[in-house]
Amino acid sequence: MSDANLDNIDLNNFTRPMVVAVRVSKVYIPDIVALKDVSLTVNKGEMVFLTGMSGAGKTTMLKLICAIEKPTKGLIEVAEQDLTKISQTGLQQLRQKIGVAYQDFKLLPKLTVFENIAMPMEIIYQNSVTIHNRVDELLEILGIPDKKNIPIGKLSRGEQQRVAIARAAANAPPLLLADEPTGNLDADSTERVMDLFHHLHGAGTTLIIATHDESIIQRDLHRILDLKQGELILNSDPRDNLANYRQGI
Ligand SMILES: Nc1ncnc2c1ncn2[C@@H]1O[C@H](COP(=O)(O)OP(=O)(O)OP(=O)(O)O)[C@@H](O)[C@H]1O
Ligand SMILES: [Mg+2]
Repeated sequence: MSDANLDNIDLNNFTRPMVVAVRVSKVYIPDIVALKDVSLTVNKGEMVFLTGMSGAGKTTMLKLICAIEKPTKGLIEVAEQDLTKISQTGLQQLRQKIGVAYQDFKLLPKLTVFENIAMPMEIIYQNSVTIHNRVDELLEILGIPDKKNIPIGKLSRGEQQRVAIARAAANAPPLLLADEPTGNLDADSTERVMDLFHHLHGAGTTLIIATHDESIIQRDLHRILDLKQGELILNSDPRDNLANYRQGI
């Protein structure tokens, strides 16, 4: 496919799963095996939880999906685009449609909350009124409406985490990757974040949430992809989870 065609990638208009990983391995130089022969799919409109202990490979999997890292072996496809073959232009177009809330936030500390959240909307040329309204809305939902004009460097970790989530959600992207999104949050803020995720999910966003936080994992409603030492050891069907739960297993 030419770059011109890739300019028009439409993540809402394709029939294959949103994410396909086929026999993916990732080895960090020199010999750290972060993922081993992982195959999975995430369907369009699905919300899945990517679980596993510290070091299991969750962040690595998300980095492969948003093409920050390349697999050592195997195939990754996002929205029908083979990420090992995609052009730079295609990649830029695709990245604009993936919201990522990074585990380490990756916010710009000298800029304000507003400026950080506005960034993905400015990239797609949203008008100023729309941007201000969306930032206000997200800050209200996430419980930090009074922080709009504060520089990131002056916020608590929990507040920064919510700004990172707001930035990822700003464009209501077709695909949202959230890496330990509640790691620094209390119960009230956790509920606010999950409300936002459910709202996005209801509106059609595909969500992949990497987490250890048992309080947010909804085994009876959503699929669990569980990693252990880089291997996918569980790819659950929520109907089985519900049945097991009812039987007290
Ligand atoms: N850039 C890197 N260079 C070398 N090794 C890395 C790098 N990033 C991750 N690793 C290693 O790869 C393995 C998987 O790491 P990863 O960050 O994906 O785990 P994780 O499941 O996200 O863990 P956590 O729950 O602590 O965030 C770990 O052994 C980690 O030390
Ligand atoms: Mg991680």
